[in-house]
Amino acid sequence: MPRPILATIHTEALRHNLARLRQAAPDARVWGVVKADAYGHGIERAYEGLRGADGFALLDLSEAQRVRDLGWRGPILLLEGVFETRDLELCSRLGLWHTVHCDEQIDMLAVHKTHAPHRVFLKMNSGMNRLGFAPHALRTAWARLNALPQVDEISLMTHFSDADTGRGIAHQVRAFAQATQDLPGERSLGNSAAMLRFGDDPAVRADWVRPGIALYGSSPDAPAHEAGHWDLAPTLTLSTRLIGVQQLQAGDTVGYGSTFAAEGPLRVGIAACGYADGYPRHCPTGTPVLVDGVRTRTLGRVSMDMIAVDLAPVPEAGFGSEVTLWGRSARGAVLSIDEVAQAAGTVGYELMCAVGVARVPKVAG
Ligand SMILES: Cc1ncc(COP(=O)(O)O)c(C=O)c1O
Repeated sequence: MPRPILATIHTEALRHNLARLRQAAPDARVWGVVKADAYGHGIERAYEGLRGADGFALLDLSEAQRVRDLGWRGPILLLEGVFETRDLELCSRLGLWHTVHCDEQIDMLAVHKTHAPHRVFLKMNSGMNRLGFAPHALRTAWARLNALPQVDEISLMTHFSDADTGRGIAHQVRAFAQATQDLPGERSLGNSAAMLRFGDDPAVRADWVRPGIALYGSSPDAPAHEAGHWDLAPTLTLSTRLIGVQQLQAGDTVGYGSTFAAEGPLRVGIAACGYADGYPRHCPTGTPVLVDGVRTRTLGRVSMDMIAVDLAPVPEAGFGSEVTLWGRSARGAVLSIDEVAQAAGTVGYELMCAVGVARVPKVAG
């Protein structure tokens, strides 16, 4: 028997979240961002729920190949563009669109031999200072691209650094609008947080939006707002079962380091999930968890393969009871990944990706 831990990917919830994001930018075309193996969900499993998108945006050429292998004939965008000249051959072969964010990528395009010119997204650095041309360098880059026979249509893009926080997007929208004002081409600005928080801004709604995290049912501006506030449904449930029960007396402790001590008699369940399953080791005592759909809390330190949970609110629970680390329990109760992320001092993005690369079996359901 395998360990009872499982990640269930909810196809219907992916569809729902995509529809919800379309409402936020009704005239825009939607890139479903599926980098990092669809934020840990697995591209093949997420595809069924996200195939209603207008295109898929990702980083790795191997992931682009997997999307094509699924039968997707529509647009695919490489969000970081190419890393070396020969990547352009695969772009030609798979018909990939790619971001151009630096002069080196234009140099590579200039020596690339192709019969079919490429569609590119020229990226401007509007303040995040990660990738992209500075505003003063954008025009020269555009002119260089425009002069290349290897290049077909040029679109313009930028990425927000603070769409999820108080600083917002206005300063970057302004910088982008000024630098691009008389350049032709489609625009792409909005990520999840910008779409949900600033969807009224015409710049965010323009041409192509690029939601990632909200597609996967995690709130882009947690903890300010939770997923329910944005009408997003959880797309990944991490569940397991109790594989042991302990009866503690006052003063008894739980787990490595004895960081939790019982104040009185307490039933404790041992769940088959630990940090080797992608559950964050930093979750302290009190992190929410569902047992048989009832909300309770973790106790003590998370170990590699197990975690202890308080059974006081679920006295009928015992060996084999369902434990939902986050997502939707069999009885329908929901625990948001964002609550667990907050307890661990991180964000839903990191938790999903960690489960994605962990040993947990994943199924669509
Ligand atoms: C360039 C770019 N566009 C869009 C996204 C999607 O962002 P989010 O998951 O916050 O919606 C990302 C993710 O970081 C990104 O790097």
